[in-house]
Amino acid sequence: MTLQAWPYPALFAHRGGGYLAPENTLPGMAEAVARGFHAVEFDVKLSSDNHTFLLHDDSIDRTSNGRGLAARMTLAELQQADAGSWHGSRFAGTVFPRFAEVARYCQQHGLRANVEIKPCPGRDRETGEQVAREAAQLWAGQPVPPLLSSFSWEALVAARDAAPHLPRGWLVEEWPEDWEARLRELGCLSFNCDYLILTAERVAAIKAAGYRVMAYTVNDADRARELLSWGVDGLFTDALDSLREAILRQD
Ligand code: G3P
Ligand code: MG
Repeated sequence: MTLQAWPYPALFAHRGGGYLAPENTLPGMAEAVARGFHAVEFDVKLSSDNHTFLLHDDSIDRTSNGRGLAARMTLAELQQADAGSWHGSRFAGTVFPRFAEVARYCQQHGLRANVEIKPCPGRDRETGEQVAREAAQLWAGQPVPPLLSSFSWEALVAARDAAPHLPRGWLVEEWPEDWEARLRELGCLSFNCDYLILTAERVAAIKAAGYRVMAYTVNDADRARELLSWGVDGLFTDALDSLREAILRQD
């Protein structure tokens, strides 16, 4: 089977700025740009009043000075929280950014995007649909579309139905024996997974079937080189300060 074209670089800054900045924030995206990255991954979900914004967890407790479940908070309530000072005082005043702001930032700074659809519990379908619809609008006319991915099968199905032309990656933590049927069913571009479940043989099999492979979260340079040598197409890293340089030095 012919491999589908891959319009993305090999390295994606994980959650925006990896461990150098508060995750899923605009200062994080700025860190990716400053470190010479050309692609970022970030997590998008819906507020209680149906606005798309960036957040990894179900609650805002870990990554802000606020408390509460995102699914029960309006965007205005969410944006009252300081989403930066938990990481360092220089990030004080950072807010959870809206998806549209981040899309604009990526386009202005030449960052390719992997938009991970991360629904609040029970909101899989509507989140997949809305994020895909907005992504199609936000990136209309851009040379490279965002890659949509999700651990949620239901969200990805809804994303496919809402924006069939946008590329999709199916995210998994554990090795699925039925990977080929699932990637075909969803019309995926890539298989996105925890690097720990990959072997050279598995990467070769996925690529022989025509799909690309992305692996998270790779912070060790030797491991990154090994995965790339197996044919892995994209790596997500938190180590923005060391990994890119280590990989480039090898070239
Ligand atoms: O999309 C790759 C990676 O971000 C998946 O894991 O938990 O960091 O969103 P997580
Ligand atoms: Mg993610």
